[in-house]
Amino acid sequence: MDKFIINGGKSLSGTIAIGGAKNASLALMPATILAGGTYHLYNTPQLRDINTMTTLLETMGMNISQQDQSLTIDTKNINSYEAPYEHVKKMRASIYVLGPLIARFGEAKVSLPGGCAWGPRPVNLHIEGIRKLGAEIEIEAGYIIAKAKRLKGARILFDVSSVGATGNVMMAAVLAKGTTIIENAAQEPEIVQLSEFLVKMGAKIDGIGTGRLEIEGVDEMHSTDITTISDRIETGTFLIAGAIAGKIGGKIRLEKCNPNHLGALIVKLQDIGAEIKTGDDWIELTPSEKIKAVNVTTAIYPGYPTDMQAQWIALMSLAEGTSIVTDTVYFDRFTHVPELNRLGANITVKENIATVIGIKKLIGAKVMSTDLRASASLILAGLVAEGTTEVLRVYHIDRGYESVEKKLQALGANISREQGEEF
Ligand code: UD1
Repeated sequence: MDKFIINGGKSLSGTIAIGGAKNASLALMPATILAGGTYHLYNTPQLRDINTMTTLLETMGMNISQQDQSLTIDTKNINSYEAPYEHVKKMRASIYVLGPLIARFGEAKVSLPGGCAWGPRPVNLHIEGIRKLGAEIEIEAGYIIAKAKRLKGARILFDVSSVGATGNVMMAAVLAKGTTIIENAAQEPEIVQLSEFLVKMGAKIDGIGTGRLEIEGVDEMHSTDITTISDRIETGTFLIAGAIAGKIGGKIRLEKCNPNHLGALIVKLQDIGAEIKTGDDWIELTPSEKIKAVNVTTAIYPGYPTDMQAQWIALMSLAEGTSIVTDTVYFDRFTHVPELNRLGANITVKENIATVIGIKKLIGAKVMSTDLRASASLILAGLVAEGTTEVLRVYHIDRGYESVEKKLQALGANISREQGEEF
């Protein structure tokens, strides 16, 4: 298993380009199940999660080839409607095949994803939504078994705004007979892009980007092309890398990104004292010498993203004063905290609230990454920790950050990938 060796304290400055959004690609790829044909998905990041989705879709008979950042997907020969446990257990987003399979083929067998390293992550809203569209769904031996003749439009209210459930139910509803209304739909940019892709494929969807989607089912859809939006979480993580550098940092410029998708984070970074300039597709950050302590509460979009919570805690560990970081989306997502404390941070967690008492410096140590965003926070801390930090088990980071060490090297960081110990 690879590990990162980071010699902290190198000043960061320079320009890098942001890649395509993992979470958008993971919705766009299964959406192609909805119509037979050839699709081109441009600006697709090269990531482990994308490979996992590719393998899963290939087991269903799809033909997928990757040329640099582009995917060509041929869906003409789909011959299996099953998502086996061996793939789903690696990546929860595999459940996205449920909606399109049941909508186009009237049957689907999808393994239940189970929990996550940091807690339970239910899929009840996906199942209830698709049931409301008329599918018969049973849970058997760890699998969701869904059957339907043709789905029928329905009114659906999500008690909790869910990215995955909105995407899944929307993909089911586009081929249903009649009108579906989804209330309290997710408004995340990845869901907006999925909606736009479905419309390009021939779907009829009103209210895109709002909490109320109205979908008029169509009889047939067709293949098309799309350019994936930039990854707002990768962008945000590099912004925090610039900010955490504090007095050893210089100006960093991120290109091929969308500042409009990061409004909440940008305000918070300005609150800590960082200077931020934005253009249509770029952001520049100049760090402040002193990092002010600023509280954050995660929320659904356009609130502060839960996927940026761990990185904020790393930043706040070096702030002047005490900050409170509350995660209202996932209550148990704090596995990075004990690892950050091994670097000298002073963080306590009670329920879903972290209290971060800022300290003067972090000191390098061996730390273990436990999930994708936790890994990012440990790398950020390592960039400024005194001495050497080893981040073990970086396969988590390879799920969601493309060439993270190369991009950080381009900004001046001293980070390298090495073969790590086995566990
Ligand atoms: C997506 C993102 C993930 C991000 C999360 C929240 C992808 C592939 N992943 O995950 O990176 O952290 O959004 O922004 O896009 N919930 C239920 N029942 C359900 C589904 C969700 O109660 O059936 C709850 C969850 O426990 C959570 C909340 O809804 O509290 C939001 O989760 P959701 O938006 O569904 O997250 P994902 O789509 O799994």
